[in-house]
Amino acid sequence: MAQTHDATRIALITGANQGIGYAVAQRLAADGMRVLVNGRRVDALTEAVRTLTAAGAEAFAFPADVSSEAAVSAMFDQISARFGRLDVVVNNAGIAPRIGGRSARVEDTPFEYWERTLAVNLTGAFLVSRAALALMKPARWGRIINMSSQSGRMYTGFGSAYYAASKAGLIGFSRVLAGEVGEHGITVNCVSPGRIKTAMAASFADETGVDQQYIVRTPVRRVGHTGDVAAAVSFLASEAASFITGSVIDVTGGFFMP
Ligand SMILES: NC(=O)c1ccc[n+]([C@@H]2O[C@H](COP(=O)([O-])OP(=O)(O)OC[C@H]3O[C@@H](n4cnc5c(N)ncnc54)[C@H](OP(=O)(O)O)[C@@H]3O)[C@@H](O)[C@H]2O)c1
Repeated sequence: MAQTHDATRIALITGANQGIGYAVAQRLAADGMRVLVNGRRVDALTEAVRTLTAAGAEAFAFPADVSSEAAVSAMFDQISARFGRLDVVVNNAGIAPRIGGRSARVEDTPFEYWERTLAVNLTGAFLVSRAALALMKPARWGRIINMSSQSGRMYTGFGSAYYAASKAGLIGFSRVLAGEVGEHGITVNCVSPGRIKTAMAASFADETGVDQQYIVRTPVRRVGHTGDVAAAVSFLASEAASFITGSVIDVTGGFFMP
């Protein structure tokens, strides 16, 4: 399908100094957008922006912890002052803490794992989306894309309850927000990846074993690449997706089929 993008558009991608977020930044830059690259580690952000820029992108670093209301507010003050607009937000920043390389069962879950995972994965998306609306509504155009997970869609046998709760929560959050802002030309959708080869996927103690379990249960017989996810985000961010809101695009190779 041909996709069109306004060349002047600006996209903020949270958690984009590596992994899926970085691939999304690459893809949206290739689509002609200016990309604002977020994450906490400034050295990794600087390197990501350097590589994107060397490849011809217009990329800018915006370090912030998305779970902090004050930090998100300060980041948006900077975005407003420098660009005065924001067209696309990809709430991708996420964590999946494990104990000894394994997802903790509920009865073994330290409270701080629960609290921190929800704070980054779910509260972060709320804080960034809330701030972005102030820039999107006057323009009467916007795209908010939230990075859920197959763990928020089904019982996988791989993940933890705290991670699943955060990712399922994102879907409910997106649905209500989509209902609130559709009349302003803003769409809100989720992308729900399956197993994608990144640092997060490699944090399982038995990484190869988890890959194999995934592959035998997946119709396309492979794990995913970051580019698979970036392609879905690119579509949702495009003009072509203007009639899609409150939806979830599953990028799982068929591991999850509703
Ligand atoms: N990989 C998979 O198989 C998979 C599957 C389904 C869904 N997902 C989701 O896809 C997203 C990206 O995952 P990934 O595999 O690319 O993970 P990753 O390689 O671990 O990258 C996570 C990114 O999030 C950033 N981040 C973490 N905490 C943050 C915070 N508080 N504020 C701002 N940025 C923060 C990290 O940068 P800093 O450390 O510098 O902050 C990093 O850039 C996550 O939401 C994840 O849950 C991944």
